Amino acid sequence: MTVRTRTSDEAAHGAAPWWQDAVIYQVYVRSFADADGDGIGDLAGVRAKLPYLADLGVDALWFNPWYASPLADGGYDVADYRRIDPAFGTLEDAEQLIAEAHALGLRIIVDVVPNHVSDRHAWFEEARASQPGSAARERFWFRPGRGADGELPPNDWTSEFGGPAWTRLPDGEWYLHLFAAEQPDLNWNNPEVAEEHEAVLRFWFDRGVDGVRIDSATMPAKDPALPAFGPHHTKATPPQPHPFVDRDEVHEIYRHWRKVADSYPEPKALIGEVWLADPERLAAYLRADEMHCAFNFDYLNCPWDAERLRGVIDGTLAAHAPVGAPATWVLSNHDVTRHVTRYGRADSAMGRSPAQHGAPTDLALGTRRARAALLLNLALPGSCYLYQGEELGLWEVTDLPDAARQDPFFFRSAGADLGRDGCRVPLPWSGVAPPFGFSPTESTAAPWLPQPQAWASLAAEVQQDAAGSMLTLYRTALRTRRAEPALHTPDFAWTQATGPEVLDFRRGDSFRCLVNLSDADVPVPQAHALVLASGPLGADGALVPPDTTVWLHG
Ligand code: GLC
Repeated sequence: MTVRTRTSDEAAHGAAPWWQDAVIYQVYVRSFADADGDGIGDLAGVRAKLPYLADLGVDALWFNPWYASPLADGGYDVADYRRIDPAFGTLEDAEQLIAEAHALGLRIIVDVVPNHVSDRHAWFEEARASQPGSAARERFWFRPGRGADGELPPNDWTSEFGGPAWTRLPDGEWYLHLFAAEQPDLNWNNPEVAEEHEAVLRFWFDRGVDGVRIDSATMPAKDPALPAFGPHHTKATPPQPHPFVDRDEVHEIYRHWRKVADSYPEPKALIGEVWLADPERLAAYLRADEMHCAFNFDYLNCPWDAERLRGVIDGTLAAHAPVGAPATWVLSNHDVTRHVTRYGRADSAMGRSPAQHGAPTDLALGTRRARAALLLNLALPGSCYLYQGEELGLWEVTDLPDAARQDPFFFRSAGADLGRDGCRVPLPWSGVAPPFGFSPTESTAAPWLPQPQAWASLAAEVQQDAAGSMLTLYRTALRTRRAEPALHTPDFAWTQATGPEVLDFRRGDSFRCLVNLSDADVPVPQAHALVLASGPLGADGALVPPDTTVWLHG
């Protein structure tokens, strides 16, 4: 399978591996486009929209798990890696999608979830039906309980989604699940687990996928003694050694995966979901014989504040340089509150409690900042991740009816955490009322999550040719980035500070990016030509208003 080269610039700049500076668009299939009218997005829906994605100007698509799954956690409970979930289509659909995407110059990344499988996976079905101590149970973490009758869980670990990390089977044994009870953790000390995952990687690499996104990448290795540890939050900096977060042995897994990835004529990319606050511990995953990239969650978590953003940018570049890995820039994904909403709140608050979601949110302000942030992301050295719908300026849907919610965070916290459904609402494509072209007009089923009526003005069709729309900004910015040689080198330097609340940097000799996070206008530097602005400028183009970014030549 050949993939069209992205630009002639690439050749001119020594054809660095594509993942080093790619823009990767995340497709949450269930909410992208529904071709068969059952209210659930599917692969046929994605295939129909491939021209839209190619035209948008992204380089690659990352698909959240599309495998057979009971969807207890949006597909991160994989029942069979070699089958596509029937709600999404068939393996043939996936193969066609990969071929069609490649023909349009789009690479494909699929998700792999090493920490756990679904409780409906053949291995767990077998383990459930087998005796305590059996080989089938050795692929997981089964233990007797504590207490006189084993009625207490084997230890005090808690699930990421809330509640205990252990569930008891009728025969009395407990099994470990660091996420939902439907997601039993795998035992990576068992060689079969490693062998099976390497076979899964090859299964998809042989079908032409160009890389994998590695889910919960810090968690598969466990201390086999399963020592007491207490409630935890896995995304914080864990004390080391931790019984299951970021253990040194976990790196062995990815060294093996790297060998698999490198065994292909064009090496496959490994991209890790590594939520670690310590930049050095994160960079360890990006050593030359491990992963290629990891998501920059520090950046995603950072409020819209110049000093803090400058700190995160510097920290990111400093942590990545010694291991020679490209930085990544990401603001939204299927797990977090959409950034239009965050940036419209005081302190860009990320939380999902009813109080936080009910806090005053200025969506116009959030949208202006999201536009400015796009030009910042795309001007930084490295690769960028976009989450479906951000190119339409979608905001978090905070008022979903409880009956519609599906996320285990919501159920396992008894509603204290409203969960992630609000960032997973099906996209508006066209028309003036739900389903906004997400499903065909003749379909009988409503979209699996209700869309806000106010999204009529954000539908892709409405924005397509509108000069000031978010979609137009994304398309223009992506095209401009692609054609701008300076943005495809590692060159980066802050300029003489325009002021503490302005991010102002150069890429190469003639490209400059200036982000105004202050509350006053900032003059466009002299002797510079405007390339692109995230919003209207003042004084005939001489002033950059607050919450606005400009790209300049000069
Ligand atoms: C990752 C995924 C998230 C999922 C979890 C468990 O954090 O991004 O959606 O719930 O892993 O697989």
